[in-house]
Amino acid sequence: TTEEMEQRVREIKEKFGSKLYIPGHHYQKDEVIKFSDVTGDSLQLAQAAAANKEAEFIVFCGVHFMAETADMLTSESQKVVLPDMRAGCSMADMADIDQTDRAWEKLQQVFGDTILPLTYVNSTAAIKAFVGKNGGATVTSSNAEKMLKWAFTQKERILFLPDQHLGRNTAYDLGVPLEKMAIWNPITNELEYDGNVEDIIVILWKGHCSVHENFTVANIDHLRKTEPDMNIIVHPECSREVVALSDYSGSTKYIIETIEAAKPGTKWAIGTEMNLVNRLIEQNKDKKIVSLNPYMCPCLTMNRIDLPHLLWALEGLERGEITNQIIVPEHITKDAVLALDRMLENV
Ligand code: 13P
Ligand code: SF4
Repeated sequence: TTEEMEQRVREIKEKFGSKLYIPGHHYQKDEVIKFSDVTGDSLQLAQAAAANKEAEFIVFCGVHFMAETADMLTSESQKVVLPDMRAGCSMADMADIDQTDRAWEKLQQVFGDTILPLTYVNSTAAIKAFVGKNGGATVTSSNAEKMLKWAFTQKERILFLPDQHLGRNTAYDLGVPLEKMAIWNPITNELEYDGNVEDIIVILWKGHCSVHENFTVANIDHLRKTEPDMNIIVHPECSREVVALSDYSGSTKYIIETIEAAKPGTKWAIGTEMNLVNRLIEQNKDKKIVSLNPYMCPCLTMNRIDLPHLLWALEGLERGEITNQIIVPEHITKDAVLALDRMLENV
């Protein structure tokens, strides 16, 4: 039963004490968040992993790229476990390293040494290593603006991987006109751009989040007509059109802080993953909160981590077996850490 599973998790946590650390991303299910030692957005969890020197085992409740990041930022003796190996990220999968090497070669032919690569942390360790090796940095949704500003102090053009929306929204906020942004299509290995390539300042990798693409202009139009006094807040993985029509946009941490600080009685439509929206509804009963898309949008891979998988991973550790350990090869870690450190030093 659920009670029995919860009891076992508690027992194992108690047995391991500070030797066991369970970070949980804001998109995780309540049944998992309940047992997390720290919850946070991607940046907070990366910082928490880097700061933890005590834990021998880090059971990461989030998706694969986050566990890879934790492995790269912790010491060799600390072991990172992902409770379900199928917990990937469809956005991270949209940029593989072969496509990226191929793109870089072509972009160098066109633009020479004028481009700096930046990657959203939602990317594989290999992509982070590519970025680190080429002088760039990782970014998260809570520091993208700061990091893009930094990037422009290094080079005149940016290649932003793998989320076109976070890249476009951030560059737009910094004053880069949409006409100066091109799309890189990794399937055709071509730039998608109508004008003169000399004018391009930002090259957006053609990737997106399959959860956030479900929040649409039609959802906003409908709400503006039916609930004109509703505030709309979305994650910057939503499209430019959706962000432009919303009242607020920001990382999961920003969304939580904004809702918590809002006045009682205010109304909010939130455009982000379902588990977080449901938790905010539950924790802010004094406000009226709905999902921007009435069909609540789950991240299927985040949801693969559940209580049974968490318990299964913990019971493995209890028996002395480390199952689903995430190990990033040394040669990749070496370069990827350069990109991660450039971010952690700048925020
Ligand atoms: P943040 O936690 O940085 O807001 O990112 C959201 C997300 O989609 C993580 O996969
Ligand atoms: Fe990836 Fe989107 Fe899921 Fe985040 S919400 S893990 S970006 S698919």
